[in-house]
Amino acid sequence: MKNTKVFAHRGAAGTHPENTMIAFQEALRVGADGVELDVHLTKDNVPVVIHDETVNRTTNGSGWIKEYYYDDLRKLDAGSWFDEEFTGCTIPSLEEVLQWIAKTSLQINIELKNGIVRYENIEKIVIDLVHKYNLKDRVIISSFNHYSLVEVNKCAPEIETAILFMEGLYKPWEYAKTIGATGLHCYLPVAVPELLEGANIEGMPVRPFVVNEEKHIAALVRGGCSAIITDWPKQAIKIRDNLK
Ligand code: G3P
Ligand code: MG
Repeated sequence: MKNTKVFAHRGAAGTHPENTMIAFQEALRVGADGVELDVHLTKDNVPVVIHDETVNRTTNGSGWIKEYYYDDLRKLDAGSWFDEEFTGCTIPSLEEVLQWIAKTSLQINIELKNGIVRYENIEKIVIDLVHKYNLKDRVIISSFNHYSLVEVNKCAPEIETAILFMEGLYKPWEYAKTIGATGLHCYLPVAVPELLEGANIEGMPVRPFVVNEEKHIAALVRGGCSAIITDWPKQAIKIRDNLK
């Protein structure tokens, strides 16, 4: 029953500025099994870890990531919007995070944000970095852009991929298999018992997002969910570990 892993959504985003090194370090500190993060490309094609297509919400700057050179993006403050205590945090490059992850035993879910902005070659760029740090066995690449996942599977079938979806699909494991994906990352409300049961029979991991409430965590752990993606890893671990 306690086999469900806890993945920290954008790092420990409940307590720390999302998608920053300090948020990932906090996830490790509290005992998370893995972290989830979001990737975009800068104008000079550097993969960077940030959720939105622009820097407006989570930094002191403004504008599209695709219009920023990496060196300029690094000058932005990505912590003070959350709390002044975190002033000075920067937007990490994916490389910086992977270099750090490689020294831990964390799993890492890399979400390719290749939907609203189409980042050419993002799949290959990310795959090369995963291999550079020898992380293929600890990485899951996910995306709402399933064409991107097909590309990942074509270039690197050895890396696990998972479809992200928001709708209540019927037998999504059958669809996932058609694109070579091996995991289901679904919006919490569609992680219904039928989906969990069917995926478990198929041996396909389900990792719903974003699971912050105790009743949902308990139900998913009891339902045999592979992992939950949560903003509050410390609390989620406690709830999971205290379940009878
Ligand atoms: O990967 C799970 C989750 O992060 C997907 O939604 O918008 O938080 O990236 P979002
Ligand atoms: Mg995400």
